[in-house]
Amino acid sequence: MSAAADNVPVIRTQALSKTYAASTEAEVQALRGVDLRIGRGEFVAIMGPSGSGKSTLMNLIGCLDTPTSGIYECDGVDVSTLDAEELAVLRRDKIGFVFQGFNLLPRMSALENVAMPLGYARVPPHERLERARQALVAVGLGERVSHRPSELSGGQQQRVAIARALINQPPILLADEPTGALDSKTGEEILALFKRLRDDQHTVVLITHDAEVAAHADRIYVMRDGELHE
Ligand SMILES: Nc1ncnc2c1ncn2[C@@H]1O[C@H](COP(=O)(O)OP(=O)(O)OP(=O)(O)O)[C@@H](O)[C@H]1O
Ligand SMILES: [Mg+2]
Repeated sequence: MSAAADNVPVIRTQALSKTYAASTEAEVQALRGVDLRIGRGEFVAIMGPSGSGKSTLMNLIGCLDTPTSGIYECDGVDVSTLDAEELAVLRRDKIGFVFQGFNLLPRMSALENVAMPLGYARVPPHERLERARQALVAVGLGERVSHRPSELSGGQQQRVAIARALINQPPILLADEPTGALDSKTGEEILALFKRLRDDQHTVVLITHDAEVAAHADRIYVMRDGELHE
């Protein structure tokens, strides 16, 4: 059962707005009053054309950027009340990111890539590698832990990136076009993985241009010119 039923908003925004280069000729109103409510154990897709504000919204939800106005509560905490250090802790413990294009470190093995975020979380090295191994097993890559990114297929690299995003077991997984670079069969595998995460009570927010991909989510929001519609 989707725990959306328990109605705890893990992500809640109210009138969230972002203006880049305010009061200059280059001013862009990238987000205009976005109201969003996403519960625990929900899998939500955000669609919309290029330049409509999807990544801007993702960066705000991920606490990588701050809004011009409006409120964002992450798991009940108004993030505007946090200082830089508290924000870093919130990012580390609550949010896993899957960026477009994987962002894996080429000289490190799959195992070392996945273990990376645990360095910041002060986990002892042997435990770090064991947890990274388990995370790779969970995404079906138990046989590939020593491979470097260049020795993996695109879909396998994407799964390494997902394992890395999940290593701290964050309640929220944010994925910006995670299937964009993949063939449709590999994309389906990634989507099946997201559904399993949702069933494990993770909140999954997926950004995509592709209506077929978005159709896998429980709910779809559409972004147009900085406005979000369900
Ligand atoms: N750092 C920035 N400074 C100024 N303008 C920006 C900045 N980042 C984004 N923008 C502008 O804000 C608008 C929204 O950009 P955003 O990256 O959120 O779009 P998007 O929906 O993710 O597009 P895409 O599908 O192409 O990734 C665009 O018009 C873009 O040019
Ligand atoms: Mg984008």
